[in-house]
Amino acid sequence: MPFRGEIRRGPGALPETVEHAGEELAEAYARGKGLLGGDPRLRPHPGPPMPPEPAPWIRVGESSPEQVARFQEFLRAGPAEFEIGSRDGRLILDRARRLPERRFVACEVRYKYVRRVFERAAEAGLANLWVSDSDARLLVREVIPEQSLDVVHVLMPDPWWKPKHAVRRIVVAPFLCDLARRMRPGGVLRIETDVAGYPEFIDAEVAATGWFEPHDPSLVDLFREDLPTRRQQWCIEHGVPIFRRYYRRRPRPVSEEERDAATR
Ligand SMILES: C[S@@+](CC[C@H](N)C(=O)[O-])C[C@H]1O[C@@H](n2cnc3c(N)ncnc32)[C@H](O)[C@@H]1O
Repeated sequence: MPFRGEIRRGPGALPETVEHAGEELAEAYARGKGLLGGDPRLRPHPGPPMPPEPAPWIRVGESSPEQVARFQEFLRAGPAEFEIGSRDGRLILDRARRLPERRFVACEVRYKYVRRVFERAAEAGLANLWVSDSDARLLVREVIPEQSLDVVHVLMPDPWWKPKHAVRRIVVAPFLCDLARRMRPGGVLRIETDVAGYPEFIDAEVAATGWFEPHDPSLVDLFREDLPTRRQQWCIEHGVPIFRRYYRRRPRPVSEEERDAATR
């Protein structure tokens, strides 16, 4: 999967073109390299305790097939939203409260945050929120059904500039293709960052998939009432600008030639 553009900034900014890094990354991604916490199916011991099933917590490699089926049923009944890197869950818990007719999944690799979000959702009596402490890339590939997601939130993702960390990136075309297949046509991919130079990289990665329309700033209207995430709150307090990107999922992917022909 070719990558375009250059990474322009960041501590230890990558010297090579994105295209070069892209081929290596695509291959590493296909092999499951760079999963945070490693591949759970290869771990000798189970992860930290989850509440007993059928509590709304899903973990790749440990949840039972019945629990996986419950989770998939929950999503298919949609409309469904998925947040990657939900941390303390302030945004998704608030959306789940305000939008009870929608279904939400908060995915975050750090267990202590997931536990907290789970407890807060239970205290608030929210029946429309599931949590996961699996790496989002694994959850998407292994468990999330095709065409089940209406909105995907990726807020303030770590750009992982250092070459040795590049395999951890979420905003790369191979994963975005996997994600697109799990989204419904017309679904919205929302990516926000405070890292200057990163939005151009994000645009290039998203475009390389062929699955998404170009960034449409008017889609911000869908999220106007959202609380800022913790990182966004910090940016607001310190006057750091936030760059926002919104892409609609096409009914099918279009090739580069089709895109060029459309703009001629
Ligand atoms: C820079 S923080 C942003 C957190 C939050 N969205 C905010 O804006 O405050 C990125 C978060 O994504 C989580 N994360 C990174 N890669 C992930 C992955 N592959 N799957 C799930 N969570 C991931 C990290 O643990 C971290 O909490």
